Amino acid sequence: MTRLLATPAEWPRILLARAERDISVPDLAPETGPDLERAFTLGAFEGLRLAIDELGPEGVIGEVERANLRGRGGAGHPAAAKWRAARAQESSRRFVVANGYGADPASFTDMILMERDPWAILEGIAIVAYTIRATEAVIAIRAEYTEAIRRLDEAILAAEEAGFLGTDILESGVNLTVTVRVVQGAYMLGEETVLLKALEGKRGQPEQRPPYPAARGLFGQPTVVHNVATLAAVPWIIANGAAAFAAIGSPDAPGTALVQVRGLETEGIAEVPTGTPLREIVGLTAAFGGGRKIKAVLVGGPSGGLLPADLLDTPYAFEALRSVGGHIGSGSVVVADERACVVDLARLLTRFCADEACGKTIPCRIGLRRLAEIAERATNGHPRPTDAQLISDLCHDVSESGLCDHERLATLPLTTGMRYFRSELDDHLLRGTCPAGVCRPIAVSGAAH
Ligand SMILES: Cc1cc2nc3c(=O)[nH]c(=O)nc-3n(C[C@H](O)[C@H](O)[C@H](O)COP(=O)(O)O)c2cc1C
Ligand code: SF4
Repeated sequence: MTRLLATPAEWPRILLARAERDISVPDLAPETGPDLERAFTLGAFEGLRLAIDELGPEGVIGEVERANLRGRGGAGHPAAAKWRAARAQESSRRFVVANGYGADPASFTDMILMERDPWAILEGIAIVAYTIRATEAVIAIRAEYTEAIRRLDEAILAAEEAGFLGTDILESGVNLTVTVRVVQGAYMLGEETVLLKALEGKRGQPEQRPPYPAARGLFGQPTVVHNVATLAAVPWIIANGAAAFAAIGSPDAPGTALVQVRGLETEGIAEVPTGTPLREIVGLTAAFGGGRKIKAVLVGGPSGGLLPADLLDTPYAFEALRSVGGHIGSGSVVVADERACVVDLARLLTRFCADEACGKTIPCRIGLRRLAEIAERATNGHPRPTDAQLISDLCHDVSESGLCDHERLATLPLTTGMRYFRSELDDHLLRGTCPAGVCRPIAVSGAAH
């Protein structure tokens, strides 16, 4: 069950501002979704009107630049730079692509956003399209998100009828067609160049960048690709001003982020100001309940970093997380308690990343597979004396040579495992024991469980 977690009243809401605040309603009942009239009274499409009537394309880009909006799809690229690049291209056809694929199978932040406030995403799309002179937009969404697909389809029709999408938007002469495209595939489909190929009906593997999609994207045309949460933040920035946005959260990437938090007792989705310490995010799930100690926090999804409890004061922000080996990634934060074996966790995650790698580049294809095998040996009691060195060397080589970000990120579970939980790894590799008693037939060391 995906529920919205209660957050402190003083935390601002940007992305879920129009979503149900009452968390006693864990799932959105079909009849409680925001309709256009309700959304309208709560400010929907004010940003679009301001953008067209008052700011103009350059004014909008300037505002988003001053707000320092960075992409929420994982890598944190500055949004305004993409828009400028796409706008500057010579082309009669341009696209906006909303990435609602949600590659991480355990994170539902994008799904919840699309279900709860499709208007914010549509308005964000319309503002970007107006700014870069795009007349076509696509929302790419995974097939399982049936409720979000329904809501988006309905919202597009209603917004067209009300004059916010379609032809001659707000009598400005601007036209925009938005379509929902259902895509189905594996983890890599969330990567933007793969997604664009899928939308073209082609088999997808990542492409070398540059050229970036802003220059050569969908059907070879200038395309701005954004995560749906990035797009949903845009109307708020235009309606409330860059300064208001920049004042929220971490100065290096202001605003809020949607986080899927899996604690020891409960789980759910929360909108948190960027820069919030991990401890506070984890605390939203009563993670300290049951008297169990936190052993590790996986930050960033399957290719995330395994951070120890003494790093819980790390701010949830791009650079701060990167400096300790985590990343925002899919927006997932998962707590593992003292019963977990970090080596086994790293094995599972590395295996997932190896299985999902598309195989286009050899170091990724072979390197991740070898790393998964070494982790497998460590947990089944057949380690080799050189395995620690091999992990270290392979992680370094693999992460240096990737065609796409997956290669670098996929080594994080093992590199952070080595960095922060070395003695537990050595127990497995050198002594053939598993302190947590998870890996069998390895002997259990330390306290009884
Ligand atoms: C393996 C992999 C999976 C990804 N999956 C997603 C995804 O599910 N959703 C998403 O928005 N971005 C995903 N990304 C990032 C996209 O490639 C791209 O950077 C993003 O959609 C751009 O949006 P932004 O500017 O809003 O961050 C993924 C990247 C990689 C390497
Ligand atoms: S780095 Fe890995 S996932 Fe990315 S293109 Fe190469 S093989 Fe595919």
